[in-house]
Amino acid sequence: MKGLILSGGRGTRLRPITYTSAKQLLPVANKPILFYGIEALAASGIREIGIVVGDTKHEIMEAVSDGGRFGVSVTYIEQEAPLGLAHAVLVSERFIGRERFVVYLGDNLVREPLAPLVRAFQEMEPNCQILLARVPNPQQFGVAELKDGKVVRLVEKPSKPPSNLALVGVYMFDHHVFDAVKAIKPSWRGELEITDAIQWLIERGLTVRPHVIEGWWKDTGKLEDILEANRIILDTLEPRVEGELEASEIHGKVVIEAGAKIVQSVVRGPAIIGKGAMIENAYIGPFTAIGDQVVIRGSEVEHSIILEGSSITDVGGRIESSLVGRNVTIYRSEAKPRSYNLMLGDRSQVGLI
Ligand code: DAU
Repeated sequence: MKGLILSGGRGTRLRPITYTSAKQLLPVANKPILFYGIEALAASGIREIGIVVGDTKHEIMEAVSDGGRFGVSVTYIEQEAPLGLAHAVLVSERFIGRERFVVYLGDNLVREPLAPLVRAFQEMEPNCQILLARVPNPQQFGVAELKDGKVVRLVEKPSKPPSNLALVGVYMFDHHVFDAVKAIKPSWRGELEITDAIQWLIERGLTVRPHVIEGWWKDTGKLEDILEANRIILDTLEPRVEGELEASEIHGKVVIEAGAKIVQSVVRGPAIIGKGAMIENAYIGPFTAIGDQVVIRGSEVEHSIILEGSSITDVGGRIESSLVGRNVTIYRSEAKPRSYNLMLGDRSQVGLI
């Protein structure tokens, strides 16, 4: 079995962060989302992984390298443009060869262990295996219609969903999928849809085995989804303090990485404070991930993700439900006239009180 992680595409719903950074590298509990996928494949026994990359390939290659530290070997496959998930599979044909393989969407987080599902796929030998999850908003996903436990139809982002069973971003295939991705035509959104490729397999009488997962799963395409993923993963961390505490209090599940300093502050978990971060006269509230080398002084932050190298100083009021990119500076200025001084990238969002 091989693994294929799709990490091309353009995270339009997470701009401006994704203007300068791959959405799959956004951290959840201080670890890039993509790493959770690599670890899940590695834990299911897969050793050879192809990563499909696009515009952000250099950044992804730098972060993952040859995969050695995950115990896998990684091959990078270039997709010239984000022409759809089925197109990403098509350009990977040479890497996959005739083997069975798992496709994992690089912006998905799936907590259900993959090993039993990979085993079932190998033992039962269907042509394709899909994972489904019940969701309240099926219009935003590929949706499956089942009859007597069999998949009869799949539709991508339907306005009138036939069920509440969404396609989770983990798929398993044998080589027949390559016939499918070559046969289908682009959808209304101009993409070669993997959903249409699987529908093609169904129509040709090939076996598509559904598995409904009960566990937690998230497509992290939007801000609220990333914050929710962060909340859930932080809650699973084992507390540990490797940094320094001075006249400070920590409560609940808190990870303080080496080189971080907490001075006259309160940190209330679940929270993680990255390497070399400085927290001074501050309050860090539940569900917050503070990246490496971040400085928080005289400020309160809760239910937020602050990426590495940023600093937040003497902000009145609490920063909440926010995602702050790398090397961002937020400060209070005493200069007159009293005014807001902003330098914001395109599509930034600032909520003032
Ligand atoms: O998250 C599950 C959903 O993922 C499924 O329910 C849908 O059926 C499926 O089409 C897909 O929908 P999205 O619209 O959310 O896919 P997205 O464009 O976000 O791409 C998913 C991942 O694949 C992401 O890491 C980017 C990567 N990708 C995407 C495209 C379009 C590529 O590598 N190449 C591409 O051409």
